[in-house]
Amino acid sequence: MKFATQPPPDELYRTVSSFKNEQNFKIHIAMPDIQTRADLENLVNHFYEKVRQEPELGPIFNEIVNVDWASHLPKMVNFWENILFQTGAYKGGMMYTHLQVNALMPLRPELFERWLVLFFRSVDELFVGPRAEAAKAQALRVAEVMNAKIGYLNRERVG
Ligand code: HEM
Repeated sequence: MKFATQPPPDELYRTVSSFKNEQNFKIHIAMPDIQTRADLENLVNHFYEKVRQEPELGPIFNEIVNVDWASHLPKMVNFWENILFQTGAYKGGMMYTHLQVNALMPLRPELFERWLVLFFRSVDELFVGPRAEAAKAQALRVAEVMNAKIGYLNRERVG
């Protein structure tokens, strides 16, 4: 089922807030969980819109690495699809990629924090539910591991 053409069934929406309007009708604000690749494309685009505008993260992508967005965005969609739907679409190698980025611009803990804040915000602005929670939890785990490895490496280099 494609979310773009057909909205998810009602039971897949979760009420995130409800209140009574002036006529005393109960209004529910409901959001869907992540369900399709199209949802992940939406999430990834939404996230990188924020990243591109972030004063320190933006230049890493746009200037320091000069990322080829046409290949990076589908790669990120594959990465998340593999995590949430076990598609095998992403083949790995991300640690090596970030070591290369770190060689150009040290990836300090604050940068991981900002990355995570933007990712969590992007998920929460679009989705509610178990997959949305799983995406955030996995992002946190990956960021913690990368931050620990890269932090260790950077201390060794300086010390
Ligand atoms: C300080 C935080 C981070 C920065 C500045 C950063 C930056 C980058 C950049 C510049 C690239 C593209 C490299 C290229 O195209 O040559 C990249 C690739 C990628 N990033 Fe990050 N990243 C960060 C954290 C994360 C985290 C926490 C995750 C996962 C949860 C992640 C997942 C990925 C993946 C899957 C790729 C594609 C790797 C590949 O297959 O080559 N990144 N990142």
